[in-house]
Amino acid sequence: MTVDFIERFVRLIADYTGLQIRPSEYPHLSKKLETRINACKQPSTQDYYQLLEAATKTGSGRGDRDSFEGRSLLTTGDRQIDLSRQEWKELIELLTTGETYFFRDKGQFWLLENIIFPELIQKRKQAHLNGQSYRPSLRVWSAGSSSGEEAYSIAIVLKELIGDLNDWDLFILGTDLNAEAIAKAQKGVYSPWSFRSMDPRYLSTYFHKRGDRWAIDPSVRQLVTFRQGNLLADPFPNPGSDLYDFDLIICRNVFVYFEPSAIAATVNKFSQTLRSGGYLIVAHAELHGQPLPGLNSKIFPQSVVYQRGVRPASTLPTPQAFKRSASQRSAQFTRPPAPPLTGVRANANPHTPNELSLDRARDPLSDPSPSSLPIAVPQTFSSPSPKAQWVAPQPPADLTLKPEAIDLLFAEAQTLFERKAYGDALKQAERILKLNPRYFEAHCLIARIAANLGHYSRAEAAAQKASDLNPLSVEPYYLLAHIAEEKGDLDRAKYWFDRIIYLDNSCIYAYLELASIYEMQKNFARAKKLRLIALNIVKRLHPDTPVKRRDPLTARDLLLYLENLVGREAQ
Ligand SMILES: C[S@@+](CC[C@H](N)C(=O)[O-])C[C@H]1O[C@@H](n2cnc3c(N)ncnc32)[C@H](O)[C@@H]1O
Repeated sequence: MTVDFIERFVRLIADYTGLQIRPSEYPHLSKKLETRINACKQPSTQDYYQLLEAATKTGSGRGDRDSFEGRSLLTTGDRQIDLSRQEWKELIELLTTGETYFFRDKGQFWLLENIIFPELIQKRKQAHLNGQSYRPSLRVWSAGSSSGEEAYSIAIVLKELIGDLNDWDLFILGTDLNAEAIAKAQKGVYSPWSFRSMDPRYLSTYFHKRGDRWAIDPSVRQLVTFRQGNLLADPFPNPGSDLYDFDLIICRNVFVYFEPSAIAATVNKFSQTLRSGGYLIVAHAELHGQPLPGLNSKIFPQSVVYQRGVRPASTLPTPQAFKRSASQRSAQFTRPPAPPLTGVRANANPHTPNELSLDRARDPLSDPSPSSLPIAVPQTFSSPSPKAQWVAPQPPADLTLKPEAIDLLFAEAQTLFERKAYGDALKQAERILKLNPRYFEAHCLIARIAANLGHYSRAEAAAQKASDLNPLSVEPYYLLAHIAEEKGDLDRAKYWFDRIIYLDNSCIYAYLELASIYEMQKNFARAKKLRLIALNIVKRLHPDTPVKRRDPLTARDLLLYLENLVGREAQ
């Protein structure tokens, strides 16, 4: 296929779906188009182009198709459009990426569970008491829901928060461009991989085992309506298709595939489809540089969220709050709910403090200080209830050697660790190492468990082993540095932080932690110098850049903190 033709298809696809296809992806696109041209027996590329084009000339992708009374009444033009839409369905399945899982982004789910939904529930109750609604009502839209995990996760959270939903008018909608994903969502049956980030107690409470898969309980399934929809082409707000007055629109990991103009058009429609005070949540940095008409950003440590029509109270942490003394170290173990962090696998990027970053994402107030050791026991979402008693499931025997099964075991080990079930977490991690002695993350987890139990020699040995396996990863060095700090061996801790900086000289947190140690040792000049280096690194970042991979704290937040800190030190 000629480049000229590919570019025409790229434009057509962007106009119809918002999806952006970059030149590097043209060869793949060309193959996909040829597959479809052959499958639907089109005589030429031009004919296929015209087939697709027919639907784009009519505006909406789905709304008006539903209003057809019957096929016999269709005109030739209608039939062409219908065929065109059928073909878009097929092509879209080849073009979209439906990666998703339950409780994806634990920080954002923590925010929903602890801040946003409690606020919305209260507001909606009040509106009911003020006579504005017959019953309290709450409307949530998972836009770009893929196979439904996100929408069902929300249903579970609301079920847990509200309890008796019979008194409520609850509307949870999941829409996606990909019809196959919607069909899967409606079935609600998932493989264990979909649960890799979910609190295991939800599995036993809200799912039923069906062979090697899990089906969602009907009480949750009935709370969610799924249907196909095109965020770019469909008109909304539109009461005719239930798209109006949402309290929350969650549209994550969709805009990352969109053209900027398609993002702007969709955000504008979202804004008008929210109730006053309603929230829009996207994945981190997806709205970077975009106009936000009618929306105010609210910054939480876990994520930035966007609220319609309400002036944001400044939620930025005060610079003072970032600084904690060593004497406050133990306080973090009992601090009120921090965003959950584990259950997300450590990444193997040697230049990114991986799971440590996630630990820290829980509470940026404690980030730059050595007082918030990543080896600390993570807080869980909420205090475990009796039904939260979790017994690590035995994996099916035939899965034990498959990498995905081992990953699942590791996710369980992480969850046990979060629950402070150290004995069980340790057993699980050791079991993983029997299956795969080179499982880097399991060694790191053992190091953290041992450190939490005060077995520093064992912790150091495990971290050292991890570092042998992946000498370019900074995670073991973080562990070793924090273990050294726990032991009071600050010089050793400095050695490890220096090592991290050697591996990654833009690692802001290593400079900041090192600075804190120098400060403790009363070497204020060195501490200041290190903070200035960190400040200069942050200044080079775009304000909306997450400071670390997957970390909701942005460069803007950190810049504010560092400028204040360095400024105060200069006074
Ligand atoms: C990576 S998934 C995200 C799923 C879920 N929101 C999450 O964060 O886990 C992206 C989804 O966006 C959908 N999508 C892409 N373009 C869309 C459009 N124009 N309208 C609706 N959905 C779209 C894709 O079909 C895909 O299922």
